[in-house]
Amino acid sequence: SLSARYENVLVSRPQPGVALITLNRPKALNALNAAHFKDIASALKEADDDTSVGAMVLTGSDRAFAAGADIKEMKDKSFAEAYTSNFLANWEVISKLNKPVIAAVSGYALGGGLELALQADILLVSPSAQLGQPEINLGVIPGGGGTQRLARLIGKSRTMELVLTGRIISADEAEKWGLVSRVVPEDIGVVNAAVQIAATIADKGRVAVAAGKEVVNAALELSLAEGLRFERRLFHSLFATKDQKEGMTAFAEKRKPEWSHS
Ligand code: CAA
Repeated sequence: SLSARYENVLVSRPQPGVALITLNRPKALNALNAAHFKDIASALKEADDDTSVGAMVLTGSDRAFAAGADIKEMKDKSFAEAYTSNFLANWEVISKLNKPVIAAVSGYALGGGLELALQADILLVSPSAQLGQPEINLGVIPGGGGTQRLARLIGKSRTMELVLTGRIISADEAEKWGLVSRVVPEDIGVVNAAVQIAATIADKGRVAVAAGKEVVNAALELSLAEGLRFERRLFHSLFATKDQKEGMTAFAEKRKPEWSHS
């Protein structure tokens, strides 16, 4: 099966075009040690490279999306080891994927767990979700992107509060702060909702989806002027695709478009 090659993740295809990657290290609440992280990154990269996949869903268990980087594994690291190996630099892998990733978070998403979820393109939570950056309680700070991504997403004051006090916030608070798209009720199910969104995206033209993802993510990095210019140029470039001709012709002919992803 697809999961056979991975010790710490499960991989499945809940719907055509959708890869579901489930963090599966239950005895440590999905704490992310090097082997676990390697499996997550490989499974995502494999789905990203697979032409039959249009979007990915990343999830954990009901109890924990991920309780952070593995504290026991890193506790004896020296500065020299952390620095010369550029510890955690490989975490950026997930933000470099071409296809959309939807994170479906239940239970704990703490420290590196939240930082992993923050690299997803769309973030959904269940009412049980508990999010936070508790690194301050360990004598450190977030190292997987949390301070920078949170500050851009929820502003300085709220980010400072999370990073400096280590307070854990609820699903409702995360929604109110605009950190997540929405809280999905238990009777619908957060994974189910994420798979539906992924399936909807997988039905669109892949070239336009990749462009949309790239340019929205650029909004977090570029100035407004640079971002607007980048958006317009990518928009222009899509007029070179078959999918643009097909999409607009289908509209004019009052029929559904058939994407060739080219
Ligand atoms: N690393 C290693 N092991 C972890 C872990 C972590 N981050 N989180 C949980 N575990 C382990 C526990 O040690 C425990 O293992 P044993 O059964 O062998 O003792 C098992 O998972 C179950 O955990 P608990 O018994 O603690 O479960 P609980 O329900 O009482 O508490 C919790 C749950 C509040 C999430 C608690 O486990 C906890 O506080 N975990 C640590 C959270 C944290 O500090 N995360 C940040 C890590 S640092 C980081 O991520 C740096 C970065 O920026 C990348």
